[in-house]
Amino acid sequence: MLVQAYNLMVHGFLPFLLLSCIISTNIHACKQTERNSLLSFASTLSSPPLNWTSLDCCRWKGITCDQDGWVTSLLLPSKWLKGVDLSSNHFFGAIPSSFFQQASNLTSFNVSNNNFTGGELPLNLGKLSKLKFVTFDFNNLEGALPPSLMNCTNLVELRLENNTLEGDISMLDFSRLSQLIKLDLRVNNFTGTIPVSLYSCRSLKAIRLSKNHLEGQIQAEILSLKSLSFLSLGGNRFTNLTWAVKILMSFKSLHTLMLAGSYEGEGMPSDDDMVDFDGFQNLRRFSLAGSHLNGQIPLWLSKLKNLELLELGFNQITGPIPSWLGTLPRLFYINLSNNRISATIVLSNNNISGDIPTKIGQLQLLQELYLDSNNFSGVIPDQISNLKNLEVLNLSMNLLSGIIPSSLASLNFLREFNTSYNNLEGPIPIGTQLQSFNASAFEGNPKLCGVPLPNKCEPNKCIDADNKNNKDEGQWASSTSMVLYFCCVGVHSRILGSL
Ligand SMILES: *[C@@H]1O[C@H](CO)[C@@H](O)[C@H](O)[C@H]1NC(C)=O
Ligand SMILES: *[C@@H]1O[C@H](CO)[C@@H](O)[C@H](O)[C@H]1NC(C)=O
Ligand SMILES: *[C@@H]1O[C@H](CO)[C@@H](O)[C@H](O)[C@H]1NC(C)=O
Ligand SMILES: *[C@@H]1O[C@H](CO)[C@@H](O)[C@H](O)[C@H]1NC(C)=O
Ligand SMILES: *[C@@H]1O[C@H](CO)[C@@H](O)[C@H](O)[C@H]1NC(C)=O
Ligand SMILES: *[C@@H]1O[C@H](CO)[C@@H](O)[C@H](O)[C@H]1NC(C)=O
Ligand SMILES: *[C@@H]1O[C@H](CO)[C@@H](O)[C@H](O)[C@H]1NC(C)=O
Ligand SMILES: *[C@@H]1O[C@H](CO)[C@@H](O)[C@H](O)[C@H]1NC(C)=O
Ligand SMILES: *[C@@H]1O[C@H](CO)[C@@H](O)[C@H](O)[C@H]1NC(C)=O
Ligand SMILES: *[C@@H]1O[C@H](CO)[C@@H](O)[C@H](O)[C@H]1NC(C)=O
Ligand SMILES: *[C@@H]1O[C@H](CO)[C@@H](O)[C@H](O)[C@H]1NC(C)=O
Ligand SMILES: *[C@@H]1O[C@H](CO)[C@@H](O)[C@H](O)[C@H]1NC(C)=O
Repeated sequence: MLVQAYNLMVHGFLPFLLLSCIISTNIHACKQTERNSLLSFASTLSSPPLNWTSLDCCRWKGITCDQDGWVTSLLLPSKWLKGVDLSSNHFFGAIPSSFFQQASNLTSFNVSNNNFTGGELPLNLGKLSKLKFVTFDFNNLEGALPPSLMNCTNLVELRLENNTLEGDISMLDFSRLSQLIKLDLRVNNFTGTIPVSLYSCRSLKAIRLSKNHLEGQIQAEILSLKSLSFLSLGGNRFTNLTWAVKILMSFKSLHTLMLAGSYEGEGMPSDDDMVDFDGFQNLRRFSLAGSHLNGQIPLWLSKLKNLELLELGFNQITGPIPSWLGTLPRLFYINLSNNRISATIVLSNNNISGDIPTKIGQLQLLQELYLDSNNFSGVIPDQISNLKNLEVLNLSMNLLSGIIPSSLASLNFLREFNTSYNNLEGPIPIGTQLQSFNASAFEGNPKLCGVPLPNKCEPNKCIDADNKNNKDEGQWASSTSMVLYFCCVGVHSRILGSL
C-alpha cells in the first residue's frame, strides 16, 4: 500500500513520547530511545524492510527530528505497507482520516493501548476492503460505530475493547462480515439489543459484548453461528436467563459462556425439561456470578462432564451443594462464595443432605474451591485432603464446627487457606504448612488455638490425666496428643474413626 506522506505532528500526534534521561550534545542526533522505538515499530510492519540501519535515526528516510533529537514526524509514503502496528505507545488525538486515504492494501491495523481520543473511528475505514485485523482496544475513542465499517467485508478480527464508544448497535448491518471470527466490543457504552445481523456472520467463533448497556433477550437465531465457542455477555442488562440458557444449550461448539452480572435478580435456570436437553456438551467455563440470582444449583449442570470452571458466587442461591458436583471430573475452579447455600458438610458414610465432601474428594483436578460466606454447618470433611491439586480453599464465614482435620496438612499445593469466622475449635495441626498462613486465616474462631494464633492451646483435663508427665504445656506436637485430644472431645469421635 501507499501511506500518503503526512506529518503526524500536524494531526495532533506526539509519537514516541518516551521518557529519556539521555542528554544529547549533538544537536539533531537521534535519541537512543527514539531509535529503539522506531526499530521496534519497523519490526511490526509486514512490508519490505525499511532501510533503517545507521546510528542516527534522524537521518533515516521518513523521519524528522526536532533540535533535541526527538522524533516529530514519521512519513512512510510508498512503502507498500500491509500491516501497521502502533500499539502500546502514547499516541493521542484523533486518528486522522488522511491516514487511510491511500491505504487500500492495508490488511492489519493495530493501535491497541494508546490514548487516541475524540471522534468516531475514522469514517473512511470502510474503504479499506482488504482489512482483516483491526485493533483499537484500550484507547479513549468516543462516538458510534460507523456503518461504513461494515464495508470491510474481509474483517476477521475487530477489537474495540475498553473505549467509550456508544450508540444503539441493534440496527447495524454486520451481515456482510462473513469472514468475521472474533468480535470484541466489551467495556464500552453501547446500547440496544444484540444486533440480529450478527447472527448471520457464520464464521464467528468468539463474541465479547460484556460491560456495555445492552438489553433484551437472546434470539433463537443465534443458533446459526455453528462455530461459536466463546460467548461473553456479562455486565449488561439482558433479561430472561432461562430462555437464554435453553437456547445456548444446543450449541455443540460452545466452550465458554460468561453471563456474570447480567440477568439481575432472576431465578437460576432450572426448568424440569432442561435436564433432558443433553446440551452444552463441550462447555468448559461457565459463569453466572454476581447477579443476585435465586433458587438452587440446577440439576442439568450435572450433565456438563467437560466443565472446568464454575462461577456462581455473589448470588442468592439456597439449598445444598448437590453431591453430583463431585462427578464432574474436570472441575478445577469452583466459586460459590457469597450465597446462602446451607448444606451440612458431613463425613463419609452418612447420607445426610448434601454430603458433598466425600464426592468433592473425587475432583482430582480441583485447584480452587471457594465456599466462603455461605451457611455451611457441620465439620470440615477429611475428604478435602484427597484434593491433591488444591491451591485455594476458602471456607470463611460459615457455621462450621469441630476441628481442622490434620489430614489437610497433606495438601502441599495450598497457597490460600481461610477458615476464619466459623465455630472451629481445638489446635491448628502442628508442623504443617497450615501454620505458615497468616493468623487471619483462622481468626473469628474463639476456640481455635495454637500457632499462628496468639492463644496457646490449654491441655485439656483428659490429656492431663492420661499424660501427667507431659510438661510441654500448650503444645500439641505429637500425634499422640492430638489423638488424645480428639478422644476427649467426644463430639469428634467420628473423626477418630476416619483417621
Ligand atoms: C496495492 O497492491 C497492489 C499489488 O498487490 C499494487 O499494484 C497497488 O499499487 C497497491 N496500492 C496501493 C495504494 O498501495
Ligand atoms: C541504506 O541507507 C544507507 C545510508 O544510511 C545507504 O548508504 C544505502 O545505500 C541504503 N540502502 C538501500 C538499499 O537503499
Ligand atoms: C495488537 O497489539 C497488542 C499490544 O501490542 C497485542 O497484544 C495484540 O495481540 C495485537 N493484536 C493483533 C490483532 O495483532
Ligand atoms: C490521555 O488523553 C487525555 C485527554 O487527551 C489526557 O487528559 C490524559 O492525560 C492522557 N493520558 C495519558 C496517559 O497520556
Ligand atoms: C460502503 O459501501 C456502500 C455500497 O456497498 C457504498 O455506497 C458506501 O459509500 C460505502 N461506504 C464507504 C465509507 O466506503
Ligand atoms: C480500561 O482501561 C483502563 C486503562 O486504559 C483501565 O484502567 C481500566 O481498568 C480498564 N477497564 C476495564 C473494565 O478493563
Ligand atoms: C460510559 O461508560 C463510562 C464507564 O463505564 C461511564 O462512566 C459513563 O457514565 C458512561 N456514559 C454513558 C453515557 O453511559
Ligand atoms: C422468555 O422468553 C420466552 C420466549 O420469548 C417467553 O415465552 C417467556 O415468557 C419469557 N419469560 C420471561 C420470564 O420473560
Ligand atoms: C468469586 O466470585 C465472585 C463473584 O463473581 C467474585 O466477586 C470473587 O472475586 C470470586 N472470588 C475469587 C477468589 O475469584
Ligand atoms: C443460615 O442458617 C440458619 C439456620 O441454620 C438460618 O436461621 C439463617 O437464616 C441462614 N442464613 C441464610 C443467609 O440463609
Ligand atoms: C445412601 O443413600 C444411597 C441412596 O441414595 C444408598 O444407596 C446408600 O446405601 C446409602 N448409604 C448409607 C450408608 O446409608
Ligand atoms: C475468603 O472469603 C472471605 C469471606 O468471603 C473473603 O473476605 C476473602 O477475601 C476470601 N479470600 C480469598 C483468597 O478468596
